[in-house]
Amino acid sequence: PSFTDYQAEDAVIMSGVVESNHTGYTGSGFVNGDNAVGSGVEWTVGVPSAGIYPVTLRYSNGTTVDRPMDVSVNGTVAAPGISFPSTTDWDTWADRTVSLSLTAGTNKIKAAATTVNGGPNLDRLRV
Ligand code: GCU
Ligand code: CA
Ligand code: CA
Repeated sequence: PSFTDYQAEDAVIMSGVVESNHTGYTGSGFVNGDNAVGSGVEWTVGVPSAGIYPVTLRYSNGTTVDRPMDVSVNGTVAAPGISFPSTTDWDTWADRTVSLSLTAGTNKIKAAATTVNGGPNLDRLRV
């Protein structure tokens, strides 16, 4: 199946910065969210028809502890407390896929940290 990539560094950032000081990212960098509740990224995603879509977040978590995030669609939490476990170091990236119900046309997909540790570094979202 075909897919579209939406880089985190091109999306709307809630409390964080675009960086490129670790290797292995795609596009021009990644988003380092502040280590705080609510930090994260909001992407604007277009799909041709309404339905359930697998949505994959590419992330890095160089710590030993989970960095969970709530994933929202159009302002409503659709996938609470999604786990982003350790990737061993900040140069190693992993994919986390969630199934989201999207409407035809434009959707806002937001990933926001739920703990004071913040979320993982975010590279991109693939739909
Ligand atoms: C380090 C790392 C950052 C990361 C941060 C964190 O500072 O270089 O890329 O975002 O840890 O703990 O969130
Ligand atoms: Ca961070
Ligand atoms: Ca990227």
